[in-house]
Parts: sequence; C-alpha cells; structure tokens
Amino acid sequence: MTEITDARNKSIGIFDSGIGGLTVANAIQKALPNEHLIYFGDTAHLPYGDKSEDAIRFYSLKISKFLLDQNCKMIVIACNSASSVAYRTLVDFFEGKALFVNVVDPLVKAATDHGYDNIGVIATKVTIRSNIYRDKIKQKLQKANVYSMATPLLAPMIEEGFYQGNISHSVIDTYLGRKEFADLDALLLACTHYPLIKKEIEAYFDHKVDVLDSTDVVANSVKKLLKEENLLSPKRTKKNDFFVSDYTQSFEDTAKVFYGEEIKLETANIW
Ligand code: DGL
Repeated sequence: MTEITDARNKSIGIFDSGIGGLTVANAIQKALPNEHLIYFGDTAHLPYGDKSEDAIRFYSLKISKFLLDQNCKMIVIACNSASSVAYRTLVDFFEGKALFVNVVDPLVKAATDHGYDNIGVIATKVTIRSNIYRDKIKQKLQKANVYSMATPLLAPMIEEGFYQGNISHSVIDTYLGRKEFADLDALLLACTHYPLIKKEIEAYFDHKVDVLDSTDVVANSVKKLLKEENLLSPKRTKKNDFFVSDYTQSFEDTAKVFYGEEIKLETANIW
C-alpha cells in the first residue's frame, strides 16, 4: 500500500467548544459519506464565546493534538470563536502534520462572491471582537458595509433547547431589531450553533434578507481541498466517532438535534 493510499484512509477531525459544530459535521458527512469523522466537543470548557484568546488557543492546540493522535488527515475548526483566534496558531504549530480548515473563510467567500452591499454579522463576543469577518470581507469587497453584533445569548439559548418558541422569538427580535440591521442584503450566522435558528431569523426578516450559515459552504470547501490534495477516502469502513470532554445526558439529547441523527457521545479525558 502506498503512502498516498494510507493518507486517504485517515479520518477528518472536527472540533467545537460543544455540540454546535455538529451542524458542520453533519453537512460534511452528507457531502462526503465515504469519510470517517472524529468529532470532539469541548463541553468541559463551553462556551468559548467569552473566553480569552489565549485560553481558546490553548484548548484548540490540545484538542488538535488529540485528533492528530487519532490519525486525522484534516482538522476542521467547526467553531467560529476558535477559527477567529486560533486558526493561525494551529496551522503554524502543526505545520505539515494535517490540513486545517476554519469556518470563517468559506462564509466570507460566499458573501463576497455574491457581492452584497450591506452585510450583517452575528456571532459570539470573541468572534466579533477579533474583527475577522469585517476585515476579511472588506479586503475582498471594499464597497461592502459590514454591521457586526455580538449576540451572546443565542448559543446558550440554543444549547438549552430554546428555539422556535416565544423565548427565542423575543431574543431574536431584540438583537435583530437594531437600526443598523434594517437595510441588510445578507446576514452571516457566524456561529456554528445558529443554523438551528436560521428559519426563525429568515422569518424575522420576512425572507427578504439572505441568511448564510457555515454548514454547506464549509462542507464544500472541505471536499474541494481533499480533492485537490488527492486525499478523498474511497470508502468508509467504520462508524463515525463523537467525543465530548464532559458528558451529560442533556448534551447527548441536544447532540441528536444538532446532528439531525441518533448519535452516541463518548467521553475523552484530554484535560
Ligand atoms: N460554536 C461556537 C462558535 O461558533 C459558539 C459557542 C461558544 O461560545 O462556545 O463560535
């Protein structure tokens, strides 16, 4: 067996602060059913959205090491907060060991390729504070007006199962009712938890604003990159693995909703 064949059969590692990244994992699994996925949700440290950049970098390094030890050819940072502040560190630290994919660039590309004039971005405090979306959008599309807002209540609200109801409607109305958001052409859901409230957000804007999330766009860029690198797996031989750093029944229940299928969470004590 050649080295190339071996590398193709390696897994794709995917991680997030918790279970929000399962929305991305599910999109990857649908786009690439032959790939074996290893998911890691750092539920012991959730949420990342208000942690320091150093803490998020440290967690991301440790999790990536764990995934690389499980024989991964690629690591997808399925968390906007970690993608915003830890991507470069991971690429530099693990140079040559695996391909790294962040969730920011594919979403920026989708928005700038379309050429929207007024783009809103909602995300965690860390992601918004990093200015990564505004800077990358402006680099590619100077004419764009970018309106960014931290929406820290959304991720815990969704984790707790509050969506498609009075509570989520009221939180969404309060956040999106800001006057800067009155004239948007597109809104970027720059947090991997938000696909679960995408329909509510589209309805809030009366379907007049394009609402973009990082599920399919990330899955497509994972596919493109694996193809370019000749690393697409010809066949999946085992079930996907799902790890969390702190297990509770409630994570297990919510995980099924995020992934859209029955899954079994295992605990990995990496701390
Ligand atoms: N999934 C994380 C993200 O995309 C948000 C949740 C958290 O704050 O940990 O930024």
